[in-house]
Amino acid sequence: MKKWTLNSWKNYPVKHIPEYENKKELNMVLDKIRNFPPLVFAGETRTLKNHLADVVDGKAFLLQGGDCAESFAEFHPDNIRDTFKVILQMSLVMTYSASVPVVKVGRIAGQFSKPRSSPTEIKNGKELPSYLGDNINGIEFSEKLRKPDAKRLFKAYSQSASTLNLLRALSQGGFADLNKVHLWNLGFLKKSPEGKKFKELEDKIADALSFMDACGINSDFNRRLKTVNCFTSHEALLLPFEEAMTRIDSTTGKYHDTSAHFVWIGDRTRQPNGGHVEFCRGIENPIGIKCGPSLKTDELIKLCNILNPKNEKGRITLISRFGHDNVEKFLPKLIRAIKKEGLNVLWSCDPMHGNTIKSANGFKTRPFNNVVKEVKKVFAVHKAEGSYAGGLHIEMTGKNVTECTGGAQKISEKDLSHRYHTHCDPRLNASQALELAFLISDEIKKNSQYSKNIIQAVS
Ligand code: PEP
Ligand code: CO
Repeated sequence: MKKWTLNSWKNYPVKHIPEYENKKELNMVLDKIRNFPPLVFAGETRTLKNHLADVVDGKAFLLQGGDCAESFAEFHPDNIRDTFKVILQMSLVMTYSASVPVVKVGRIAGQFSKPRSSPTEIKNGKELPSYLGDNINGIEFSEKLRKPDAKRLFKAYSQSASTLNLLRALSQGGFADLNKVHLWNLGFLKKSPEGKKFKELEDKIADALSFMDACGINSDFNRRLKTVNCFTSHEALLLPFEEAMTRIDSTTGKYHDTSAHFVWIGDRTRQPNGGHVEFCRGIENPIGIKCGPSLKTDELIKLCNILNPKNEKGRITLISRFGHDNVEKFLPKLIRAIKKEGLNVLWSCDPMHGNTIKSANGFKTRPFNNVVKEVKKVFAVHKAEGSYAGGLHIEMTGKNVTECTGGAQKISEKDLSHRYHTHCDPRLNASQALELAFLISDEIKKNSQYSKNIIQAVS
């Protein structure tokens, strides 16, 4: 293996990184960012890795969710709070069903850049570069705004920093206190079937808390009842920025990408001999790998060996995203190959990216039923293969958007135009996200009982 350096990725082919016309300006911006404070700290990243190692052992479950692409337009404290609320609600539903802790990771505070299926977009006969994310260019269809502009990185950094600031306050400052669980239900959700089910759960939790209080255990004495850990993640796509945010941790002398706790390599940039894999090889963060239908088993093994030569638990999360009707075709052979090699990985499921379709009226959408189907099939396949389905990776928002069809609100293709706000892929709205958590709680319950049996059998 050749020596890794901060910029050794530049010696490898890279896909989906834009050409900036003004190189001088790009370098000026990156030089400044190199001196900006880290967004996250190495110690937090290590804590997350330990939590993910617990997931690998079947002792916890990973919930990763947030926007497909964060945007400058949707930047608002209410949006951050509402996304956080839904993540808390979903994880409460899951913890309650499975009696395992849920590791909460947002696709947030840095999830801006997007790989696109086509480098250009044609509208009314005019061809312009595709929109690549607010930290690179603008979504408006104009020649000026579609040019990659390095100065956008400052705004993205600053938005990420203040998003994280609010998330830290919400997770540690009392909002996440289990005694406040009634405050998490979003106004528009209260009357929905999920809102009502959540209310029932709230009542059960209130009973459990008053029982514990009577026994002398309450949030005054136990921080774990009133705070949560919430970690951040994004796709490590824009390598010049990731490189600028990568620093040596003074306590260990190792490199950490301080732009997020967890970064992942997308399905389109995971070539074993590509720049994205080379970059991620040298950082200590937990790394996700998106696994789509084109991933070959030998390629997957190669990727794990390059990225995790010491076979450390918690380092690699494999995020399968095959589409609801492709799970049985592709997932079993990957699971078998990983088992055969004895590799430690966390298996997570992204039921979004393989289920995107175009509606008759031209919207990119995802039928909620297909999302649920993919998750259920993934659980079934893992059970049949004797491995632990450890996580869920979703594109969601706390807002009442109409981007994915179906769910209890019965969003139809006609409804999509009402509140279609996403800057890239369609997200589950708050009601659909919570409904998903309820619909798969049985699977999670069986799954965790099953993994407890395995742990007992081997220990
Ligand atoms: C994403 O997670 O936003 C994404 C682009 O996914 P994938 O790489 O799996 O297509
Ligand atoms: Co997406």
